[in-house]
Amino acid sequence: MADLLGGGAIGVAFDLLMQAILDVTIEVATFNSELEHLKLTLILIKPFVEDIEKLNKVLNFRQQGAEELANRFRKGENLVRKCMEIKWWNAIKKYSYAKKLEKYEASLLWFFQINVQAELSRDGKIVAVGVKVLEEKMDKIISIQDNGRSVNSNGFSGWCGVPGVPDFVVGLDAQLQELKGMLLKDGVPIVVLSAPGGCGKTTLAKLLCNDDEIKGIYGNNIFFQTVSRAPNLQLMVQKVFQSNKNQQVPIFQSDEDAMYQLEQFFLRQVGLAPILLVLDDMWSGSESLIDQFLLPKRGYKILVTSRFVFPQFEWTCKLNMLNHQDAMTLFHHYAFKDGICTVQKHLVEKVVRGCSGSPLALTVVGRSLYRQPEVKWISTVQNWSQGQSIYDTNMVLLSRLKTSLDALDGMAVLKNCFLDLGLFPEDQRIPAAALTDMWVELYNLDECGMYTLIYLLELSNRNLVNLTLVRKDDQDAIDYCKDHFVMQHDLLRELAIHQSRQGSIEGRERLIVEINRNAFPEWLTDQKQQPINARILSITTDNAFCSNWSNVQIPDVKVLILNFQIKFYTLPEFMERMSRLTVLLVTNYGFTRAYLENFPLPSQLNNLKRLRLENISIPSIATSILQLKNLQKISMIMCEIGKAFEECTISISNTWPNLNEINIEYCDNLVEIPAWVCGLIHLKKINLRYCQELVTLPPELGNLTNLEVLRLQSCTQLLELPESISGLRELKFLDISDCVEMDHLPEQLGDLCGLRTIHMMGCTALSELPPSVMDLVQLERVICDDEIACLWQFYRDNLDKLEIVVVKEDVNLNWLHKRPA
Ligand SMILES: *[C@@H]1O[C@H](CO)[C@@H](O)[C@H](O)[C@H]1NC(C)=O
Ligand SMILES: *[C@@H]1O[C@H](CO)[C@@H](O)[C@H](O)[C@H]1NC(C)=O
Ligand SMILES: *[C@@H]1O[C@H](CO)[C@@H](O)[C@H](O)[C@H]1NC(C)=O
Ligand SMILES: *[C@@H]1O[C@H](CO)[C@@H](O)[C@H](O)[C@H]1NC(C)=O
Ligand SMILES: *[C@@H]1O[C@H](CO)[C@@H](O)[C@H](O)[C@H]1NC(C)=O
Repeated sequence: MADLLGGGAIGVAFDLLMQAILDVTIEVATFNSELEHLKLTLILIKPFVEDIEKLNKVLNFRQQGAEELANRFRKGENLVRKCMEIKWWNAIKKYSYAKKLEKYEASLLWFFQINVQAELSRDGKIVAVGVKVLEEKMDKIISIQDNGRSVNSNGFSGWCGVPGVPDFVVGLDAQLQELKGMLLKDGVPIVVLSAPGGCGKTTLAKLLCNDDEIKGIYGNNIFFQTVSRAPNLQLMVQKVFQSNKNQQVPIFQSDEDAMYQLEQFFLRQVGLAPILLVLDDMWSGSESLIDQFLLPKRGYKILVTSRFVFPQFEWTCKLNMLNHQDAMTLFHHYAFKDGICTVQKHLVEKVVRGCSGSPLALTVVGRSLYRQPEVKWISTVQNWSQGQSIYDTNMVLLSRLKTSLDALDGMAVLKNCFLDLGLFPEDQRIPAAALTDMWVELYNLDECGMYTLIYLLELSNRNLVNLTLVRKDDQDAIDYCKDHFVMQHDLLRELAIHQSRQGSIEGRERLIVEINRNAFPEWLTDQKQQPINARILSITTDNAFCSNWSNVQIPDVKVLILNFQIKFYTLPEFMERMSRLTVLLVTNYGFTRAYLENFPLPSQLNNLKRLRLENISIPSIATSILQLKNLQKISMIMCEIGKAFEECTISISNTWPNLNEINIEYCDNLVEIPAWVCGLIHLKKINLRYCQELVTLPPELGNLTNLEVLRLQSCTQLLELPESISGLRELKFLDISDCVEMDHLPEQLGDLCGLRTIHMMGCTALSELPPSVMDLVQLERVICDDEIACLWQFYRDNLDKLEIVVVKEDVNLNWLHKRPA
């Protein structure tokens, strides 16, 4: 009996599990990628299992251990066989089983890495040679974590030895040099290697550890360990101890004790030689560990890899996606035997483009197409071009990347913010101001965009989005977002879309419709699906737009985003039935301005509060728009307005009774602001930045007694501010930066008794200030350059709250003319 357990039982259970996998793979296709992965793991474990069986004979591997291992295999067999019973339509169950398989595989690896390893290394002292062989095999097992999924959810990850280099690496040479350069610099104790999931951070870290120069410096004193989601400092220190087989692994009294002992350990084992500690896959929330590990020891450095950015550490190296050529090379390696292409080239090209340079996506998709007939390739390409997600058929990719998103569970708003980024078209910059417009209404964020910025920073620190600032010189607290925009990597955008598409169409919160020549979403016009209950709707079209959607019913839409690139665009007719519409964003991404064929908006949009138009030509402003009685904010960015405003004839008392903010930016044919605008007495903010043809402001400006913010930055033709401006008793904020033609300020500027902030960078024509400025007793900040600062210095004694902030010019307007690459 004992013989059965200790002897063949493990092997038998192992074989049964393997057989189950083969059976299920043949029967159902659903779990192919998970099972394939599990199979790969088992193949790697197999020699190990054989060794155990052999060693058992020599060492009397305790029955209990053998039984536990055999049980593990049996459990796996049960799980795999259950997969066969899941119905193809049961998506939830499918997903849950995919997760179970994944967990099982992780626990199996963990068992091998920790238990079996410990067991054998103890026994191994007797058969030292055997252990050496086992260790190499173990290395191999550990290294498959990188190609598949992380196994560290249990908080264990084996010992601290330097893992081998993955057998196929591409496109990391330059990045390796960059990382090495940073790490070897004097006075750099900690380097963070940061990138989204699946970029190859761990691979790069391993390359570094195996690099000749690094090995020359650190020799055997490189300690590599993977950090778990909930790391335990004492355990991590124990693992460092474990790297020396002759060393008793101590139990620590406390974290302090652990660190003290680690210091002693280094002194004893390493002496004065340099040490490199690699902490792989550090999660946000654990970064305090990095500081804890930083011992005051010369030549001791820490390399951290993370999918997060830790701004508190100065030295961060960002890992880029692969360029197309490297992506092709990597993909060929996984998709074809010996890397030799056996299908039509354009298919490969399209599949590789769909992977957006992500090494993980290339590997997973490549493997899934390995040895597949060409029809499978054709069908994949077709499916993708028709809007199917790469995640639909690549569960492994989904589950790996989704962990970043799962980490947002419990932060509902942040997660929604991430999902909302999928509403905008691929490869386009998203203005943070547009996000603020949505999020104020959807999530009750503040009007000033402070929380928008905080959330975007949080997402950016998680590498889920790129946040870019156009102008760094004049951040202000009135509008945090005015100069920010974000870009999202395609795979992350697709992830957002994929996640938004869970559940039935009628029940979804967010609907993302993409229409192009290849794809029209039939469900949209399908009578049976109506009404659709989404609250957020985005429709993106290229030039094949069809507005014949007479039966579409989406009555609850609160936020509507229309993206297109055609010269003549027709607003969808079904907008008329969206009586709850509160925010409307219309953006033309084309190269020439677009005309909205049926602008004015349907008059039913009585709830519309925020309207944002971008790159649109507005020949005339119609009465129906002026009558939107709940409109609070209107933004026209890069629009052609011309005389549209002048021709307004409607009685002012009916016009925009609730408007309190008007934004007209980058309008290159607006010459003057008509007087009637000054009758909108609720206006609190006027923003005319970059209206470079604007010559005058109306004398009636002084009627806007509620005005708090006036932005005129880069109105380069504007000659003066009207004298009546002195009537704006509520004005707190004035920006006249880069108004290069303005050579004097109104004599009575000092009457602006509420003024707190003036931006006046680059007011080059201005040679003096009116003496009345000494009455601006509330003035707190003047943001300017050296020349203007001198003018203000003169009045400093009168203005005790005043701080003069001198900023160096740092402008980057390139984004206006070309899309960021
Ligand atoms: C393409 O989509 C169809 C329909 O959803 C699906 O049956 C098929 O398996 C997909 N093809 C590939 C290669 O994923
Ligand atoms: C994000 O920024 C990094 C560099 O900081 C760049 O390599 C990457 O391409 C950017 N991604 C997007 C989607 O713009
Ligand atoms: C629009 O669609 C309806 C029904 O879906 C159809 O009867 C009508 O002919 C279509 N009109 C045009 C112009 O295509
Ligand atoms: C917007 O319009 C301008 C002027 O016609 C054009 O140069 C620009 O490329 C357009 N598109 C975008 C996305 O800015
Ligand atoms: C500005 O105020 C004056 C005096 O109250 C008034 O006569 C005039 O009509 C107002 N102008 C506008 C454009 O509202």
